[in-house]
Amino acid sequence: MSLKQYIDPNRIPEHVAIIMDGNGRWAQAHGEQRVFGHHNGVHAVHCTTQVAAELGVKYLTLYAFSTENWNRPQAEVDALMNLFVDTIERETPTLCENNIRLTAIGDLARLPERTREKFEECIRRTAQNTGMTLVLALSYSARWEITQAVRNIAAQVAEGTANLNQIDEGYVSRNLTTKDIPDPDLLIRTSGELRISNFLLWQIAYAELYFTDQYWPDFDEESFYKAIIDYQHRERRFGKTSEQLAK
Ligand code: IPE
Ligand code: IPE
Ligand code: MG
Repeated sequence: MSLKQYIDPNRIPEHVAIIMDGNGRWAQAHGEQRVFGHHNGVHAVHCTTQVAAELGVKYLTLYAFSTENWNRPQAEVDALMNLFVDTIERETPTLCENNIRLTAIGDLARLPERTREKFEECIRRTAQNTGMTLVLALSYSARWEITQAVRNIAAQVAEGTANLNQIDEGYVSRNLTTKDIPDPDLLIRTSGELRISNFLLWQIAYAELYFTDQYWPDFDEESFYKAIIDYQHRERRFGKTSEQLAK
C-alpha cells in the first residue's frame, strides 16, 4: 500500500531541494562502472519531478553537478555532460505536458557549449509554463554563489547605485542566483552521507534536513512520500518556543 495516503495535502513543502548522491556506489554495488549509475539516476529524476509536481510542490531544486565535481576524472565529467544533453532532449516534452518550467542556477558559462545550449533551449521552451518550477543546480556551489553576490554588491556600492545602510538580508538574497525562489523548506540527501557539500548554504538556514541511506537511482515515489511525511511531523519553530507556535 502506498504511503501517499498519509500525506497531508495542506502541508506540502513549497520548495524541496535534493542532493542526488550515490550513483557511483549504486553502480559499484551492481558490479558496473560509475557512469552506469549516472544513467540509472535519470529515472529517479524523472519520477521525483513527476511526483513532486503531482503533490503540489512549487519548486524542486536538484543538485546535478557541483563546482567541485569538475575535479572528477575527465571521462566521468564528459559522460555527465553528454547525459545532461540526452536527458534534457528526452525530458523537455514531458516537462511541457506537465506544465513544468525549467530554470538553472550555477556557473553555466563553464558548461560545454552543447550542454549549455540544450539547457537554454529547454528553459526557453518551458518559460511560459505555470506549474512547478524545476531548478537544476549545475556547476553550482554555494560559496561560488555567495562570492558572486559579494562582488556584485561591492560593485553596486562602488558605483553609487547602493549604499551600505540598504544592505540587509533581503538585499543579499536578491543578489543570489535564487533571487526569485523561496528558501527550501525541505532538503533531502540520499546515499547516507550526512553533509551539505556546498549546496544552498545561505538558503537552507531554516530548511528541515532529511537524510536517507538509499542511493539516488533507488529513490522512487515511495521514498519521496516518506520524506514528505517525515517533514510533516517536524515542528518548525524558527527560533520561537512551541507554546508561541500554538497560539
Ligand atoms: C551523485 O552521485 C551524482 C553526482 C555528483 C554528479 P555520485 O557520483 O557522487 O556517487 P557516489 O557518491 O560516488 O556514490
Ligand atoms: C554532491 O555530491 C554534489 C551533487 C550531488 C551534484 P558529491 O558526491 O559531489 O559530494 P561529496 O564529494 O561526497 O561531498
Ligand atoms: Mg557522491
